[in-house]
Amino acid sequence: MKKVLMVCLGNICRSPLAEGILQSKIKKDAVFVDSAGTAAYHIGNLPDKRSIEVAHKYGIDITHQRARKFTVKDFDTFDVIYAMDESNYQNILILARDEVDTKKVKMILNETHPHKNVSVPDPYYDGRQGFENVFKMLGEACEIIASKL
Ligand code: 4NP
Repeated sequence: MKKVLMVCLGNICRSPLAEGILQSKIKKDAVFVDSAGTAAYHIGNLPDKRSIEVAHKYGIDITHQRARKFTVKDFDTFDVIYAMDESNYQNILILARDEVDTKKVKMILNETHPHKNVSVPDPYYDGRQGFENVFKMLGEACEIIASKL
């Protein structure tokens, strides 16, 4: 079974949405999807209320998710690791032990904007529109990811 990990900073706003959206686009048992954060601030917490709300609006339940921190072991577990932004990308790569680990790490919006290294904007300090915007970007990226799985 292919295993995909979505990573942002806090694992409460962007990567929980990416996890929920990708899971919604694939058969339940075909792929294992998870998410994590590069920071420890929110370990054990539910996704941000605004992420829960925007997901719910589009028929996706992410309330079973709890935030966790990315660890070096995730390189062994997952086949692909999608970073939401440039800073997450660098912070994951710092932990890579070899070329095999390094090759697993990708910028998620390179799926929709190949080679451009566009970041998913951090919506934490934004209002609902920021979360809608993130949902839309991740929806488009996950559609492509799902079509290739
Ligand atoms: P995320 O958003 O990385 O998309 O989960 C953030 C969540 C929390 C914080 C920053 C970004 N924070 O500073 O606590």
